[in-house]
Amino acid sequence: MYQLGLIGYPVKHSLSPWIHGQFLKKANVKGNYSLIEINPEEFENDIAKLKTSELNGFNITVPFKEKIIPYLDEVDQEAKQIGAVNTVLNKDGKWIGFNTDGKGYVRSLNNFYPTLFKNKDKSILLLGAGGAARGIYYALLQEGFYHIDIANRTQESAMEIKQLNNTETKTKVISLHHAEESIRMYDVIIQTTSVGMSPNINQSIVTLNDIKRETIVSDIVYQPIMTNILKQAQNKGAQIHFGHTMLLYQAQYAFEIWTNQRVPIGDMDTELKLILEG
Ligand code: ATR
Repeated sequence: MYQLGLIGYPVKHSLSPWIHGQFLKKANVKGNYSLIEINPEEFENDIAKLKTSELNGFNITVPFKEKIIPYLDEVDQEAKQIGAVNTVLNKDGKWIGFNTDGKGYVRSLNNFYPTLFKNKDKSILLLGAGGAARGIYYALLQEGFYHIDIANRTQESAMEIKQLNNTETKTKVISLHHAEESIRMYDVIIQTTSVGMSPNINQSIVTLNDIKRETIVSDIVYQPIMTNILKQAQNKGAQIHFGHTMLLYQAQYAFEIWTNQRVPIGDMDTELKLILEG
């Protein structure tokens, strides 16, 4: 019987109970996944209580992904590099921290565009340089892509992410304006900021005037499913990749850490899309 859950504040509207409920069913594993809302002021006390509880594993979200780190017994290499933890495994009373966001994102991209992963010389552009961008950049480096540029409003944050690179991969840090002007150079464009998220659905971090038809435009925003930047891409005849799929694959990887089972996503993609579209 797996006792799983999500710690965060607020967590009421999380889709994770639905996702992990489906995984438990599909894997034929007994367990439950509960929402554990912790008031940031009570964090230390509540975490100490949870440490003595029966929880086998949990996800941790905003605003605690960094704050949890001092309470962990071990942090895996990837989470250490990213500086944030979103998944914790209770292994014989020891809490081990992981970050499944970046790898989950890459799994989802690989699932929809497998040919992209056959030849790692594609040019990738990351838009944004927050926590999500950091995880995705790290995961793309691990995959061995040779060329990943980062465009951000604040170039210092992008420079910090670039420091993660100790590989052969070439990375240029550019402005959003420069990104717009050189958009044609890129085979994959990954939007990692909250720009375009509901209720600001008409916003887009860049305008895709001159995009190639073969380019894949990916947005990690999933509310709405069809964001402004994805609409622009579709109107130009380019390929698109939806944000809710990252949610599914990062959860798949977390579930695997807890139970050692990789549950196929199957039609959960379509079902989640329907849930999000109301
Ligand atoms: P997360 O951890 O979810 O990725 P974050 O760390 O707050 O979120 O990162 C937000 C990202 O969105 C940053 O890249 C931020 O740009 P800055 O580094 O310049 O702040 C970007 N962002 C947010 N609102 C933006 C806006 N209106 N225009 C351009 N970039 C924006």
